[in-house]
Amino acid sequence: MCLRNSQRISRRGLWFGVAAFFVAVLAGVVIGRYVVFAKEMHKTAYAATRDADQIVLTWSDDPRTTQAVQWRTSTGGDGNVDCIRYRRAGEAKWQVVKAVTTRIEDAYLENDKACAHHTARLDGLDPGTNYVYEVGNGTKWMSESHFSTAPGTGTKFSFIYMGDVQVGYEEWGTLLDAAFERHPDTAFFTVAGDLENHGCDRNEWDAFLHAGAGIFNHVAFVPVLGNHDKCNQGAMYRALFELPKNGPSSVAPELAYAFEYENALFVILNSEVRPSTQTAWLEKQLSQSKATWRFAVFHHPIYSPKADRDNAKLRKTWAPVFDKYHVDMVLTGHDHSYMRTYPLKDGKRTDKAGDGTVYVTSVSGTKYYDQQPGEQSAVAFANVSTYQVIDIDGNRLTYRAYDLQEKVMDELVIDNRL
Ligand SMILES: [Fe+2]
Repeated sequence: MCLRNSQRISRRGLWFGVAAFFVAVLAGVVIGRYVVFAKEMHKTAYAATRDADQIVLTWSDDPRTTQAVQWRTSTGGDGNVDCIRYRRAGEAKWQVVKAVTTRIEDAYLENDKACAHHTARLDGLDPGTNYVYEVGNGTKWMSESHFSTAPGTGTKFSFIYMGDVQVGYEEWGTLLDAAFERHPDTAFFTVAGDLENHGCDRNEWDAFLHAGAGIFNHVAFVPVLGNHDKCNQGAMYRALFELPKNGPSSVAPELAYAFEYENALFVILNSEVRPSTQTAWLEKQLSQSKATWRFAVFHHPIYSPKADRDNAKLRKTWAPVFDKYHVDMVLTGHDHSYMRTYPLKDGKRTDKAGDGTVYVTSVSGTKYYDQQPGEQSAVAFANVSTYQVIDIDGNRLTYRAYDLQEKVMDELVIDNRL
């Protein structure tokens, strides 16, 4: 009996031990998850103050007649800087608009957990007009800057496209400054996702916006969501940038959108969600537009410069649509190197540049990957940060990629009349 009892106890002990082992393993996993996923506290090098900073221009509506202006201050208190006044350049009369103020919080920020974010939408502007603006509290004004509305006459214009920033904000700021010093008349600029490194960490956004200060406040920014920006459904990205809410219902507002600037259509897609959920909307934008030029901008490349980073589903889903409606250029990032394809249709090189779609991947920050470009690649290089200037003059498009020293790293002309 004793022995049996002993055996029984022993069996119980065994089962207990087994159970305890699994509990321990589970606990270990939980602890492991906690250790792995627990966020560390971080600090921002750019805490908000009572004065405005991070002034950013975006469009949430027609670039001919509207302008969204957003900026930041510290939270609360009387006399907060939550107004904007603006006037036509050369005229004396100001108009005052009160901003909508929201609170942006990052509980893991040690030194500045919350800041106030102000967004003013200026409507009823005159096309092709220079405006001067200042932000302030209604009596005290600061940070004078300017912007221009789109002419709306189909006139020639330029825009700048860049690939990922993500790492190397200071160097990126130097590249951005150089780009606008050399091309000061550029209408707007776009970065094809991964604007920063951790989308829920405000210190990363602070560093990004600080690096672009002096440009963001007078040139409209056209952001694109990347995998590093998407944290919490792009909550901080969406809080920071006022963008068109005309995207597909399958995507959170502002994470995909479309707008026209002069004779060009820009479709900003969200490659972070299933591409098929945006295809009908994409087709609608392309089929309804009468724009001469069509651009699609999103984060993940359709033709990756590296074989093991292929996005076959994206290519299978969207490339036929780009072919069908003749999208001229697809601008992407994510692969941290430069690659431009030949003009492609159905995956094959076309005889004339205007008959196919040109796919570009580039990087503007300082994180680089090596590459093994495929047969579709016309120009490819690694370890160089570039910015791309696209000049559109009627039926002629001139594309150039520049490095920091203004060396032309790639060049392409598409003339729709040929
Ligand atoms: Fe990425």
